Amino acid sequence: MKIFSGIQPTGEIHIGNYLGAIKHWVKLQETQECIFSIVDLHSLTTPYNPEILQKKILELTIAHLAVGINPEKSIFFVQSRVKEHTELCWLLNTVCPVGDLSRMTQYKEKTKQFKKNINAGLLNYPVLQAADILLYKTEIVPIGEDQKQHIELTRTIAKKFNTKFGETFKIPEPQLPKIGAKIMALNDPTKKMSKSMPESCLFLFDEPDKIKKRIMSAITDTDKTIKYDIKNKPGISNLLTIYHLFSNKPIQEIEKEFEGKGYGDFKKELVELLTESLKPFREKRKELLNQEALIQKILNNGAKKAKIVAQATMEDVRKKMGLI
Ligand code: AMP
Ligand code: TRP
Repeated sequence: MKIFSGIQPTGEIHIGNYLGAIKHWVKLQETQECIFSIVDLHSLTTPYNPEILQKKILELTIAHLAVGINPEKSIFFVQSRVKEHTELCWLLNTVCPVGDLSRMTQYKEKTKQFKKNINAGLLNYPVLQAADILLYKTEIVPIGEDQKQHIELTRTIAKKFNTKFGETFKIPEPQLPKIGAKIMALNDPTKKMSKSMPESCLFLFDEPDKIKKRIMSAITDTDKTIKYDIKNKPGISNLLTIYHLFSNKPIQEIEKEFEGKGYGDFKKELVELLTESLKPFREKRKELLNQEALIQKILNNGAKKAKIVAQATMEDVRKKMGLI
């Protein structure tokens, strides 16, 4: 199967990104044809600092390598270094209904969050995402819950293109983890954990004292039992989900273990579990921090490999659209 997914260099990776997406990419690369991209062009649609963009890309590359993305097994590259993404984006814009774009939840949320910068890129964002995916004839897109709607739109765009210009693109399927597709904010379990709200996050490379601080102060519910109940106890349910995914113990077993104990006891154990589980990632990241030449080489190779596939698709697309 051909797999594609991407992540924006907008901030550090949090455990939501990891549990919802990247953890599964690491596994998929063992058996499937995987392409993973740092989607820098997407990140230009919200306020950013051009002077530190390359630093963010470098940090995100290191983060991927530290958690196990293997450039020998996956194609791993930076989106803007393969120009075909922007070309295909423009061409797909001509088949994408504008009404669909304005109905996207992420667009609506971001226009609220960044009232002073509602740019056309923010509206067209999902078309670029469709280009990312379709350029590589992708079949499966492993993502978290929040991206499901964008993959639906990608499918609509692909179908419209195929009907209008002849069979060209595979129709990709989203792949969401059964548990962990939406890790909630630690400071407000009714909202998703999001890079744009650092207080909501536990970052993957946070040091032990930060893990302790974040988990011990995570918002829980007034009643004291450790029971999974998303509707009435979203805070403790979110922490139980995190505990389950890092320990591999079934949620019921965890509930039993903490029967008669309080939130404080549970949180203390969770701090320990997270500190230990994330330790190898912290260590690997530190090792990679001063190896910039190696990292750039990995990204150059990745872009070269991606270009070969992207150029072949574009030749076909240009022909089908009457451009050559
Ligand atoms: P982003 O941080 O928006 O670039 O997202 C990168 C990947 O992480 C996407 O596949 C998202 O769906 C996924 N993701 C982001 N936030 C969460 C979350 N809170 N829980 C689970 N997955 C998430
Ligand atoms: N929009 C995605 C996010 O914010 C990132 C992304 C861009 C992506 N292009 C993609 C994800 C292609 C999957 C496939 O998380």
